[in-house]
Amino acid sequence: MSRTGVVVHATPALLAAAVAARLVTALVDAQAARGSASLVLTGGSTGIQVLRELRSSSARDAVDWSRVDLYWGDERFLPSGHPDRNETQARTALLGHIDVDPARVHPMPASGGEFGDDPGAAAAAYAALLGDVPTFDVLLLGIGAEGHTASVFPSSLAVHETERTVVGVRDCPKPPPTRVTLTLPAIRRAAQVWLATAGEDKASAVAMALAGADETQIPAAGATGRRRTLWLLDRAAASQLPTEPAGSRAM
Ligand code: 6PG
Repeated sequence: MSRTGVVVHATPALLAAAVAARLVTALVDAQAARGSASLVLTGGSTGIQVLRELRSSSARDAVDWSRVDLYWGDERFLPSGHPDRNETQARTALLGHIDVDPARVHPMPASGGEFGDDPGAAAAAYAALLGDVPTFDVLLLGIGAEGHTASVFPSSLAVHETERTVVGVRDCPKPPPTRVTLTLPAIRRAAQVWLATAGEDKASAVAMALAGADETQIPAAGATGRRRTLWLLDRAAASQLPTEPAGSRAM
C-alpha cells in the first residue's frame, strides 16, 4: 500500500530547491543500498527548474551520476535537439553538466529518426527498452491545470490503457500535440512517485486528485508509487486543500 504525503513550500523557487535536495538524498540512499539508482525525469516548468536547482546544488555530486539510470516519463515527439523536447531541456539544465554514463541515459525517441513520424512505433521501442527494468527508484511528474500528468490527459485513450507501458499520443491539449508517454500502469511501477507542481491554476486538480477523483478524469490521481506517493507543492497549488488534512501531511 502506497503511503501518500503532502509537503507544501512557500514559493515555487523553494519548492524546486527542496525537491532537488530531496532527490539527492533519495539517489544517494538508493546507491548506498543497491549500488545504482534509477530516476524518471519530467518536462514542464517545475520539473526543469528542479534540474537547474540540482545542477547548482552543493550536494549534487554526493550522487555518483555515472551509476544513475535516467529515463523520461514523457516526451514531446519532435526532432532530436528541438528546444521543446524534454530531453533537450534536461540536458541544458543538468545532464550536460554532470558525469552521467551516456549508456545509462535513455531518452524517448525523437521524430524524424528511425521511427519516422510514428509516435506509436517510438512508444513500442521505448516499452521494449523498459521491458526488463524492474522498477524506478523515483519517478518525477508535473501536473496540468486540468489534471494531466506526463502526457496522460483526461478522457484520453492513454488514460484507459491497462496493458501497454508506453503509448504514442496525438492531439494533446497541451502543445506540442504529438507525444510519447508512460501510461499509468508504468508510472505505478515506480517505488516512489513525486508529483511536483506550483501555481494557483493547479490547485483545483491537486485538491480533486487528493480527494480521490477518478483517474480517467484527473490522471494525476492515478499516479501512485508502489511504496510512496509524494505531492510536493507550493502554497498556491495547495490552496484548495483542507487546511489540515488528516494524516496527509505526515512525511
Ligand atoms: C510535458 C510535461 C507535462 C508537465 C505538466 C506541468 O511534457 O509538458 O511532462 O506533464 O509536467 O504539463 O507543466 P508545468 O509545470 O509547466 O505547468
